[in-house]
Amino acid sequence: MTEREPIGVIGAGYVGLVTAAGFAELGSEAWCVDVDAEKISRLRAGESPLYEPGLQELLEKHSERMHFSTALADALEHTRLLFVAVGTPPTHSGDADLSSVYEVVESLPAGDSAADRAIVMKSTVPCGTGESIKRAFKESGRERLAYVSCPEFLKEGSAVADFLHPDRVVIGDDRDAAGEAVLELYRPLLAREHGGSASGALVRTDIASAEMIKLASNAFLATKISFINEIANVCEETGADVVEVARGMGLDERIGPKFLHAGLGYGGSCFTKDVSALKLLAGNSGYHFQLLAAVIEVNELQKRRVVARLQRHLGTLAGKRVALLGLAFKPNTDDMRGASSLVLAARLQAEGAHVRAYDPVAQEQARALMPTLEYVSSALEALAGADAAVLVTEWPELLALDWREVAATMSGNLLVDGRNALDRAALEAAGLLYEGIGRGAPPRAGDAHARAEQQGERARDSVSVRAAGAGA
Ligand code: UDX
Ligand code: UDX
Repeated sequence: MTEREPIGVIGAGYVGLVTAAGFAELGSEAWCVDVDAEKISRLRAGESPLYEPGLQELLEKHSERMHFSTALADALEHTRLLFVAVGTPPTHSGDADLSSVYEVVESLPAGDSAADRAIVMKSTVPCGTGESIKRAFKESGRERLAYVSCPEFLKEGSAVADFLHPDRVVIGDDRDAAGEAVLELYRPLLAREHGGSASGALVRTDIASAEMIKLASNAFLATKISFINEIANVCEETGADVVEVARGMGLDERIGPKFLHAGLGYGGSCFTKDVSALKLLAGNSGYHFQLLAAVIEVNELQKRRVVARLQRHLGTLAGKRVALLGLAFKPNTDDMRGASSLVLAARLQAEGAHVRAYDPVAQEQARALMPTLEYVSSALEALAGADAAVLVTEWPELLALDWREVAATMSGNLLVDGRNALDRAALEAAGLLYEGIGRGAPPRAGDAHARAEQQGERARDSVSVRAAGAGA
């Protein structure tokens, strides 16, 4: 293997750590720096501080190549390219908070020691940030530092695989040696026409366009989700099934099947903050981005709609026991940022419900954010004696529950499938009252009973026993 450029990574979060481990897998030495001393000591001990499939394995495999420190000087000593992956959370105004990014910029060397060095921006930043940082370089005697925008498109839960098999690699630069060096690092992941042997496309462009590609991609995906969620809501009024509708739409190659899953709304750190940041970026420049205002509002309402659904069946929620199955913003992650469960649980508690929750991985993170929920150590424990349950996160272990056991342990029978991920027939055969998101007109109490009638003696008995329990 030819000698690969060593890299520095500042910010050992989901993006930074996966970037470092991914480049280590491709043969680079990686020097990771983070201000969080506890995170660094866990990493030094060979332990991943976050749950991301495949990451622990890469950390172990490349322990020789991966170095961890709280001191930026360690990365500066060994590398020319510094990937910046610190968080850019929303400020109170909803704009992106760039203070961590600027802290990094201000701690970089000036004068001759800046020569041949570059920062490579992985953090999602508003369009125009690269220009501002280059200006700040000039004003502070760091004009010899180069700047490359290299947005990251990985998804949590499949971040390692996404890094190693990107659809595209976007490099925004001034057509300089720093841009070439970043391209060289990514070469093995690119398609043959770019000198690689994999399948990634290359977009080499200017810095502002690279920044906008990232924001626009996240905003578009969020728009697709809010769109299908609105279709789902109309399906509930009209009797259509959004799963069938999405299947029929997705077969049109111009639309495509992905990100057309209706549910409890999108969560996560990226969509929530980037959609808002793009809307405000437009607003700050004098343009009212109407579509994104609707995307955000639809998503906020979508997290709450299920409360009304529960009320329709249970009447007042005061004193009712509701089980939340899954809390993380999506499966295969311990990340609770922007999770729909945060809003849903708060609304249920405000209505007086007793909420018992279970998540296979994100429980501790959830407890820190929602200390007043009751947490239990299995799905069945959460369901014991519940009047209703909501599937919030489609973890594989939750999809594989034994529904007869579930029906036997609940005291009511209503199960709301907040991700349209469950097998309706299996639930109904077990005597549960299934409700998805946008799966046809909501059954009224009488309809539910009538449906159960059609499923034979056993299901009917089960439903009437539970309905009696729910009414008690
Ligand atoms: C990243 C991004 O960089 C963000 O802009 C993008 O939109 C989503 O992905 P993520 O990796 O999810 O964020 O963030 P997080 O897991 O919070 O990691 C950021 C890390 O940077 C933390 O470990 C934090 O301790 C560290 N950090 C923060 C620094 O090392 N220095 C700072 O000044 C601030
Ligand atoms: C997203 C982008 O996909 C990724 O490219 C970017 O780098 C970071 O932001 P992530 O937030 O990790 O990734 O997860 P993603 O799989 O996109 O899901 C985001 C949210 O949307 C989840 O809450 C998920 O449940 C929801 N979602 C996704 C839907 O509700 N319906 C869908 O069809 C797809």
